[in-house]
Amino acid sequence: MKKDFPILERKINGHDFVYLDSAATSQKPRQVIEAMNDYYTNYNANVHRGVYKISEEASEKYDDARSKVKNFINASSEQEIIYTKGTTESINLVMRSWGEKFIKKGDKIVTTIMEHHSNFVPWQQLASKTGAIFEVVGINKNYELDESELERKIKGAKLVAVTHASNVLGTINPVEKICKIAHDNDAVVLVDGAQSIPHFPVDVRKIDCDFFAFSGHKMLGPTGIGVLYGKKELLESMDPFNYGGDMISEVHVDKSEWNKLPYKFEAGTPPIAEVIGLGAAISYLEKIGMKKIREHEKELTNYAIEMLSKIKNCKIIGSVDVDKRLGAITFDIAGIHPHDLASLLNEKGIAIRTGHHCAMPLHEYLKLNATARASFYIYNEKKDVDALVDSINYAKKIFGVK
Ligand SMILES: Cc1ncc(COP(=O)(O)O)c(C=O)c1O
Repeated sequence: MKKDFPILERKINGHDFVYLDSAATSQKPRQVIEAMNDYYTNYNANVHRGVYKISEEASEKYDDARSKVKNFINASSEQEIIYTKGTTESINLVMRSWGEKFIKKGDKIVTTIMEHHSNFVPWQQLASKTGAIFEVVGINKNYELDESELERKIKGAKLVAVTHASNVLGTINPVEKICKIAHDNDAVVLVDGAQSIPHFPVDVRKIDCDFFAFSGHKMLGPTGIGVLYGKKELLESMDPFNYGGDMISEVHVDKSEWNKLPYKFEAGTPPIAEVIGLGAAISYLEKIGMKKIREHEKELTNYAIEMLSKIKNCKIIGSVDVDKRLGAITFDIAGIHPHDLASLLNEKGIAIRTGHHCAMPLHEYLKLNATARASFYIYNEKKDVDALVDSINYAKKIFGVK
């Protein structure tokens, strides 16, 4: 399957390219690149506007992608699938269209310490603007959410915003259980699915979340396209996010009326090629099968944890139980700054991520400045882990670290 990813044929600094930063963005298979290329080459036209052949073709492919997304996450209806620019915009949409309308002074918003900034800052800012209470749930020594704190804080909450899986710790959160507790307290739940949807099957109706946000670019699709899933009755109750063309049903000098879902939230010409690319990415993932993808990742993660654990003074910041985690492994090598490590790995053609991974509150909580992260996806193999481990050992030698 690796042959489907042209970028992985590159040599970097004379070495085979080892891409270990898929938690930041995934690489794209030819099938996705070709689907987008085909649109621009053969039927580039705006959607839902022209009555001519290529506009009809574009509209058909565009609509077809929405149906693929709906089936992929098992939503009830295509009306519940809103296209956005990505997870960040999906969450901001909920913050503005639902939060600014329904969150009032004294209401409680609950989030967690392991959130990416995009599911933290919008709620922190909404709380500060409205006078709502902003509660943050911590983690235990196994890098899992502290369940008793979670249950205590959810009591009386109006919104719970939680990540399905952490981009730093790899922890997979029990979102189904969280939704149950939240709903027993009449709270609305937003799940950040940016890291979960590329890696294992997601069923929004089984989870019973109210909102689910994700990005196309982390699941083999292009950048610039993401999805907000929302339960229909909630989306109906919300005000539009952007105003303009397509999101209206009628416009008069003194008033306008909004289009039906999902168009009410999709003002202007949409990212057509990107939507088509996302559709192609879903087809590609479904052809392999999400369960198989998860199995492959568990095997690789297990191997990576085993190999990294053999390196003296290498600390894995996350659970070692592969059933409860993803293949995004954050680690620290005592005595080597993560940026220096990443630069040396780059010399060997290996790409890893360093820094705070857009999770500064978590780094502060764990008293860490910066960390290194290797993350795997469907195209990675055990030999990529071996290359990583060999290069870490090489870096230790260069830096004179034991
Ligand atoms: C858990 C999580 N949430 C949200 C995001 C933001 O996604 P995007 O930058 O595609 O909007 C990321 C990106 O790394 C993430 O890992």
